[in-house]
Amino acid sequence: MRRKIVAGNWKMNKTPSEAKALAAEIAATLGSEPCAVEVVVCPPAIDLPAVSAVLAGTQIGFGAQNMYHEPKGAFTGETAAPMLVDLGAKYVILGHSERRTYFKETDADVNKKTKAALAAGLTPIVCVGETLEERDAGKTGDVVAGQVRGSLADLGADLVKVVIAYEPVWAIGTGRTATPEQAQEVDALIRKTLADMGGADVAEKVRIQYGGSMKPENAKELMAKPDIDGGLIGGAALKADSFAGIIAAAAAAK
Ligand code: PGA
Repeated sequence: MRRKIVAGNWKMNKTPSEAKALAAEIAATLGSEPCAVEVVVCPPAIDLPAVSAVLAGTQIGFGAQNMYHEPKGAFTGETAAPMLVDLGAKYVILGHSERRTYFKETDADVNKKTKAALAAGLTPIVCVGETLEERDAGKTGDVVAGQVRGSLADLGADLVKVVIAYEPVWAIGTGRTATPEQAQEVDALIRKTLADMGGADVAEKVRIQYGGSMKPENAKELMAKPDIDGGLIGGAALKADSFAGIIAAAAAAK
């Protein structure tokens, strides 16, 4: 059984003091009862020390939204995996469509970052997804399988440690969610691609999230699908009650 994983991608929202307050509110809302779902928040990098202090001793994990692939050196403005690990981060989102679009990250870049994250002991949450134009042209399968193969190339036995987030670009921040059937279809295709890459056993173990306008109202139906193992949440992760609603939906979606 794959444990569901719900991660909040706060994007470039919340100052350190606001992040501290939101993390505290999420922790209070979730309480200390063991949660069936793995819960993660990914605030902006500069908020991580504040969030780390608030979440210490809770069951909520945290991570970054990006990192550089080199462990240290003359790379002005970048953040390295060992720095995240030192703060207690366990996760890092890589290859989000906003990074691919605005910062021109390629599958090769994402692949280098994924390897560096794994080498440092972080769990990478690697994002893939097609644009509306690609979907309309009937290219969704090829685009997504290509991103999976490229971003996760040559990971060897570490492939099983990766979390994948399928996020159709047309569903991100648009209020237009993929239907559970559309999301399931692509998550299943990702799992098939993983089986080709690393074998059926590995593919069965890797968690594949859906992301794109997920909210408490649509989360359960999405996560009840057999290949959808959680969610990567943007807008709805910025309020403790809606984030908690999605976590509850994940726990209820057996
Ligand atoms: P959204 O963002 O939930 O606001 O659509 C999801 C994401 O970009 O990870």
